[in-house]
Amino acid sequence: MNPIEIAPGVYDVGVTDWNIRDFHGYSTDLGTTYNAFLVVDEKIALIDSVKKEFADALIDNISRIVDPRKIDVVISNHTELDHSGSLARIMHRIGEDKPLYCSKMGAKNLVRHFPQKWNYQAVGSGDELKLGRRTLAFLETRMIHWPDSMFSYLKEDGILFSSDGFGQHYAGPERFDDEIGDRIMVHAKKYFANILLLYATHIEKLIRQVAEMKLNLRMICPDHGVIWRSDPGKIVKAYLNWCRQEPEKKAVVIYDTMWHSTEKMAEAINAGIMAEGVPSKPMHLRAWHRSEVMTEVFDAKAVVVGSPTLNNNLFPTVADFLCYMKGLKPKNKIGAAFGSYGWSGEAVKLIENELTGVKIELAQAGLKVQFVPERPNLDACHEFGRKIGRAVSGP
Ligand code: FEO
Repeated sequence: MNPIEIAPGVYDVGVTDWNIRDFHGYSTDLGTTYNAFLVVDEKIALIDSVKKEFADALIDNISRIVDPRKIDVVISNHTELDHSGSLARIMHRIGEDKPLYCSKMGAKNLVRHFPQKWNYQAVGSGDELKLGRRTLAFLETRMIHWPDSMFSYLKEDGILFSSDGFGQHYAGPERFDDEIGDRIMVHAKKYFANILLLYATHIEKLIRQVAEMKLNLRMICPDHGVIWRSDPGKIVKAYLNWCRQEPEKKAVVIYDTMWHSTEKMAEAINAGIMAEGVPSKPMHLRAWHRSEVMTEVFDAKAVVVGSPTLNNNLFPTVADFLCYMKGLKPKNKIGAAFGSYGWSGEAVKLIENELTGVKIELAQAGLKVQFVPERPNLDACHEFGRKIGRAVSGP
């Protein structure tokens, strides 16, 4: 993407990755961006960099504003390689001795990725860096979502460089929230549900801590997706709401199937849930990506999971999803398990173990059907769904 001036003397020099479709297991159907920012003052600061493959594009964008060798300081808000992968090229280009500001954990983690002996300047919350007319203030945001994560705040302009926080995996012609409107919120929610959910408690505390600082926040610049400039408070409020994990009265029926038997059960259960007036969505795990399914799980009250028994075990896609969900630890949910089997039928119990393992309360005992469900079995599935529906819509 072309560099743009987002405020006088402050530029977004990041790049667009139009073609990425899998971001370490997260589906990025529209691509993403790796945002990086240049602040031109008496000193010139580069805030964050981009994935290694895009180093040339970043250098090109910087060169359209200033000679990269004129950059005085580099800020690394986060070590993960989508924001640091091009550092070796950047530091080589601007001068290996230039100060590289990062958190204390950032200094420890960056050396595990890069052998070069850079001029690390470890900073902590409250530390500041004077650039001339402007000042960058640092705020450690440990475990949001790596130990090294931090925010940088350009005080005089009210611009928060929030690293992964408030980001979205979205690539498009728009660079600001007001250019895309509410359509961006689904991407922001998916990002939260799949990347930040595990750290929801930390995030809520951080937001409250920042609120007490009474910043004159005019713009939030995440390292992915659009910049929040029209109403930065909107995404902050959405985060506070998401951190509480208060589910909606809806259900999701997640399953895979071998010969359509578990699928027939899933559809009958789904119909039963909806017969109670509760919105519910069946999601076949080879039709829906795990990160789309997780986004539905995020705000659903009921998580109903079905698997055929394969070799005395779960079907692999179901095991994959349960493992993924377990890592993200969603809260405040009920669940149930179901599945068709041939002769042993362990899958339902295995699903129940996984659900209770993440503190998802079982709404009722699991439902198994041997081989192909017949009419009475499907009626039982429908009733199974109705009970879940009533549990969702109840007090
Ligand atoms: Fe966008 Fe944690 O990296």
